[in-house]
Amino acid sequence: MNTVAVIGAGYVGLTTATCLAHLGHTVTCADINETRVDELNNGQVPIHESRLPELLQDGLFQQTLKFVVGARQAVTNSEFVFLCLPTPQGDDGRADISAISQVIEEIREIIPAGSIIVNKSTTPVGTNAAIQSLIQRDDVAVVSNPEFLREGVAVTDFLQPDRIVIGATDPEAAQKVTSLYNGIDAPIITVDPASAETIKYATNSFLATKVSFVNALAAVCEAVGADIESVTRGLGSDQRIGSRFLQPGPGWGGSCFPKDMQALVRMADDAGYQFDLLRAVIEANEQQFVRIVSKAEQLTDDKLAGATITLLGLTFKAHTDDLRNSPAIEVANLLSAKGARLIAYDPMVDSEAALPEGIELAQNMEQALADSDIAVILTEWPEFARANWGALRDSMNAPRVLDARNALDRHAMLDLGFQYDDLGRT
Ligand code: UGA
Repeated sequence: MNTVAVIGAGYVGLTTATCLAHLGHTVTCADINETRVDELNNGQVPIHESRLPELLQDGLFQQTLKFVVGARQAVTNSEFVFLCLPTPQGDDGRADISAISQVIEEIREIIPAGSIIVNKSTTPVGTNAAIQSLIQRDDVAVVSNPEFLREGVAVTDFLQPDRIVIGATDPEAAQKVTSLYNGIDAPIITVDPASAETIKYATNSFLATKVSFVNALAAVCEAVGADIESVTRGLGSDQRIGSRFLQPGPGWGGSCFPKDMQALVRMADDAGYQFDLLRAVIEANEQQFVRIVSKAEQLTDDKLAGATITLLGLTFKAHTDDLRNSPAIEVANLLSAKGARLIAYDPMVDSEAALPEGIELAQNMEQALADSDIAVILTEWPEFARANWGALRDSMNAPRVLDARNALDRHAMLDLGFQYDDLGRT
């Protein structure tokens, strides 16, 4: 068992620290936010992440996990230092790695000889090598170990991953990082650092492309009279394609896909390759927001101005409270620009403070739908599918639903007398 420092207690760092403690390592996790550190030491999890509260409590109780303020506090006795730091999109589309450079500068002189820096943050190709030269230490190795953690199910993704990717130039360091994951049953892909860094961008970009493809396919289904669910059943059962990530929606979003797609386009550009395919996918995703608005226009006979629109769901997907780069917000902004009044309900959003101006927040579906001219389902929360739409219909000004997540039973909604539209279903 090893002594590990994790720098950053965001959702990647917190999940990494907690899961490594769960695997038996002694983990010190550092963050610059003092309040967050205090809360975590008291067992309070600041994000909505399944299984994390239980594992955190467990680690604190076993004394294998603790939280400190600042990277320097965490690294003094560590054999491994995991970097789990934000790499936001810079003004030019490139990933901004200044948080990483800053931490390396802080810990450079005090990190123990023989320790290994493990970069889990999503960083441009070449960052591993850049860290190695910033640290200016021959006795410290740097290994790339990208994360593949979906928000909401990050603990499961950490403990039961499809694969673990290790990018290293030094085979001994690669072996040591691999051994941290003993107890996890998954293929280990050991590659050079540049390939590991590329695997991360390739994975997110491919998944985003898959979603944009299925959104376009849903439009084709509408045009030719095919049914997207039947089509994806047939398409996804080809094992070369796979059935996951084929659910049409209002577009992809979140804190990762949009910035990683831009970063890969920029990275390719900088290296002399025009990644036009990816540019088209980004453009298609923006068109998807517009397409949802056109569908709302059609359903209301072009009367969005002055209409009361109910937005059901605001988070970028279900089972998270994260609003960052949410397609629901993108669609809301476009609807607002049409002059509509917006009233929203999301089971995980309880404050208007985090929302763009002009969105009123309701406390439940009933309140949100009262006197509504059209409801637009933007996040696939299960309670929207379970709701008694027969009863809700009567409180609406007009019984119209645009289901941008294909969450409801189309035939049941039509039988209830709704004007109903969705994505590519017949
Ligand atoms: C994504 C990746 O799935 C993780 O593997 C990765 O580690 C993470 O980014 C990251 O880089 O940190 P996450 O941002 O939690 O995870 O979101 P996803 O679950 O992948 O969903 C992304 C978007 O695609 C959401 O807006 C979602 O609603 C949409 N989506 C996904 C669809 O519209 N249809 C689908 O079939 C799947």
